[in-house]
Amino acid sequence: MARTRRPFFCGNWKLNGSIAESLALATEVRNGVSTVRDVDVAVAPSFTALHAVAKRLEDGPVAVAAQDCFWEDKGAYTGEVAPAQLVDVGCKYVIVGHSERRQLLGELDAAVNLKARAALKAGLTPIICVGETLAERDSGETLGRVQAQVDAALADMAEADLSRVVIAYEPVWAIGTGRNATPAQAEEVHRFIRSRVAARSAGVAAQMRILYGGSVKADNIRVLMAEENVDGGLVGGASLSAESFVRLVKEGASV
Ligand code: PGA
Repeated sequence: MARTRRPFFCGNWKLNGSIAESLALATEVRNGVSTVRDVDVAVAPSFTALHAVAKRLEDGPVAVAAQDCFWEDKGAYTGEVAPAQLVDVGCKYVIVGHSERRQLLGELDAAVNLKARAALKAGLTPIICVGETLAERDSGETLGRVQAQVDAALADMAEADLSRVVIAYEPVWAIGTGRNATPAQAEEVHRFIRSRVAARSAGVAAQMRILYGGSVKADNIRVLMAEENVDGGLVGGASLSAESFVRLVKEGASV
C-alpha cells in the first residue's frame, strides 16, 4: 500500500515518571528511533518533566507533546497552563480532549474546541481525542457520538488551521484494558472521521492524520496500520518502556 500520509506515533505517558525517569525514557526512545525513516515520533511527559525532556530531545527526531492545555493566554486561572507556555518549554504538540479528562474531569466538547483552537493559535499541533464508551458502542451510538465530538472539536476553525490538526480515535473501552479495537472496527470509524472532515474540506481530509489509540502494542500495530485510514498511534501503556515503544514505532513505520 502506498502511504499518502506520514505515519505518526505519540507516546502518552499520562501521570507517570519523575524528571529523572522521564529523561531516561526519552533518551532511550530518541536513541532507539534515530534510524527509523519517514515517520514522526513524539512523547508526552507530565508537565513537571516537559522542560527537561524538551531540552534533552532538542534538535533530535523525537518531538515533545503536552497532555493538555488551557484556552486562555494568561490571567487568573489557577492551575492552568497556556499553549504559549507549552511552546516556551519546547512542545510541538498538545493532546486535547483525552477521554480520561472527559470522564474524570468533566471536560466538555466545547472546552476541547476552545483548547484546540488556542493551541493552533499559539503554533502547536493539537492531537484531538475522540471515542465512544462501551455503552455507546453496545447501543449502536458509536458513529453518532464520534460525529458529535469531531464536529464540536473542529467548529469555527479556518481551513488553514484545520489542516494542522491531528485526530486520535480512542474507543474508551480499549484504553488501558488490553482489549484493542479490531482493525475493521478502527477503520470504520477512521473512515467516518475522514468523511466528516471532508465535508469541510476534501483536501484537508485527504492529508489529515488520524491516529488509533487504545491498547496499541508492537504486536498489533501492523494490522492496524494496514488499514487505509489508520495513520499512526497514540500509545499509553506500551510507551512507558522504551523497548516496547521503539519496537512499535519500527513495526508501525514499516507497514
Ligand atoms: P493505552 O492508552 O495504550 O494504555 O490503552 C492509550 C491512551 O489513552 O492514549
